[in-house]
Amino acid sequence: MRKNIVAGNWKMNNDLPQTEVLISNLKKQTQTSNAEVMIAPTFTNLWHAFEALRQSNIEVIAQNMHFAEHGAYTGEVSASMLQSVGVQTVILGHSERRAYFNETDELLAKKVDQALKSNLRVIFCFGEELADRKSNKHEAVVASQIQNALFHLEASAFKNIVLAYEPVWAIGTGETASPEQAQDMHAFIRRTLESKYGHIASNNVSILYGGSVKPGNAKEIFSKPDVDGGLIGGAALKAEDFYAIVNAF
Ligand code: G3P
Repeated sequence: MRKNIVAGNWKMNNDLPQTEVLISNLKKQTQTSNAEVMIAPTFTNLWHAFEALRQSNIEVIAQNMHFAEHGAYTGEVSASMLQSVGVQTVILGHSERRAYFNETDELLAKKVDQALKSNLRVIFCFGEELADRKSNKHEAVVASQIQNALFHLEASAFKNIVLAYEPVWAIGTGETASPEQAQDMHAFIRRTLESKYGHIASNNVSILYGGSVKPGNAKEIFSKPDVDGGLIGGAALKAEDFYAIVNAF
């Protein structure tokens, strides 16, 4: 079901003491919007965050997972291990996983399958490089990423999938996509889904924007008809900034 969602991707930030401080500050914030709120700490802090936020409306989610149920995958974490510490949603396909850990569309399809089989909700990330946009290939790149990783699924699977469009050139750069650029791509994504799964399924999927969302630009971006919220990096590390974005609907 399509909802307004703001998820904070902490990436590789905050040890346990820093996590405790940030969570304490998050708890002091007031929410005035109807958005679903999520935070994604690192693996080592998931259980503490889950316990600390058990009585709140902030969902604790994971930044990644492996496609296998268990086994000889040193350093990896499985879906069931995430669920054992309270996680019900996992981010997959982030551009940093694709760039630094060589995660391909085919590998991500296996991760998506395992997450859905485990009844985890998936926030599936994708987005073009600056060179793709400059050569007007950004729609083709995004369509390919979605089709290669998701279009083997039945329409019903999308009730557990949130899409996150994150133009790589806007991540961590301060070069936010304009609200019009975000809307144009989100509308294209929805049309791409509709061509395969029909209007009802495509219109029920939440599509988040990620890439330098800040308190000063969130309201305009979130006001666009096909933008259902944001996946937030740097601004998620400050409680006040994160809630200024949560309340930007
Ligand atoms: O996953 C969200 C992240 O990639 C966006 O980062 O710092 O540009 O908000 P940032």
